[in-house]
Amino acid sequence: MLVCQGRAVADGRSGDGGRFGDPVAVRLLRDAERAVVDEVRAGTPPQGWAARTAYESVRACAELMVPRTVAIDEAVTERVRGQLVVLGAGLDTRAWRLAGLERTDVWEVDHPASQEDKRARLTDAGAPDGLPAVARSVRFAPVDLAVDDLGAALDAAGHDPAAPTTWLWEGVVPYLTAQEVRATVAALAARSAPGSALVVNYQAPSAKAALGRLLTRFLGSSVTAGEPWRSLWKPAGLAALLAEHGMRVVRDRALSEVAAGGDGGRPAGTSLRSGRVAVAECGGGLTG
Ligand SMILES: C[S@@+](CC[C@H](N)C(=O)[O-])C[C@H]1O[C@@H](n2cnc3c(N)ncnc32)[C@H](O)[C@@H]1O
Repeated sequence: MLVCQGRAVADGRSGDGGRFGDPVAVRLLRDAERAVVDEVRAGTPPQGWAARTAYESVRACAELMVPRTVAIDEAVTERVRGQLVVLGAGLDTRAWRLAGLERTDVWEVDHPASQEDKRARLTDAGAPDGLPAVARSVRFAPVDLAVDDLGAALDAAGHDPAAPTTWLWEGVVPYLTAQEVRATVAALAARSAPGSALVVNYQAPSAKAALGRLLTRFLGSSVTAGEPWRSLWKPAGLAALLAEHGMRVVRDRALSEVAAGGDGGRPAGTSLRSGRVAVAECGGGLTG
């Protein structure tokens, strides 16, 4: 919900050179969640510790979401070929807004509780028929990546492992243990026909970021204070894991590099420096 609020705040603003847009994000928010978005867009911080914490979390998140979304939209648009699987989809809006998905079938994989919440929001946003998708189709596969069999769930949802798939894994890796990340990579690699690609957003280790998160947990000064990061990856470590499964990293950028491309190189915060987006080719079919 926080990342959706961040995207709603940033929609239509020109600070990124016009590369970012997510008009659907605000439609997935409930009234109280939208109120914070309006406050941040207006630049009017509320009184009181809890309200101010929510305001600052959304404001900081909006800054992070712009380069993250831009990098991923570009990578997905460049590579998508008929099948897109969004792992840990949360309130991702791409199937409902990203031009270029008209001939792509999308599978949204998420923790059952998160997915149930999203489906209710989609119904409410587009009542009575639900929000119309841009993608050719959207199918939902409830999966807890810590315990469930991703392959079996995708089989049941009609995903074709013999056709190329673009895998999108945004904002999820830090919440999984290293073992869960390894198992997920193995499962998706096993369903990646030649020509498939993985677009993955992850967090690299950073002493400053670790200290910052420790402080926010201690102070309760962020709405994500109760969500610990479970695995951080150095670019070389992630590339090695992907290589074990026949995937070759062809691009891996810090979000600060992406942001610098949009606004002329403003100094980046810690989250922008340690957050990264990598693109890997599966099955040797694509070229960089
Ligand atoms: C920060 S949100 C990111 C959502 C979305 N990908 C985005 O970037 O907007 C984290 C997502 O990871 C999902 N997630 C966390 N742990 C998971 C697990 N064990 N199995 C499946 N999904 C999980 C949550 O349900 C949530 O949708």
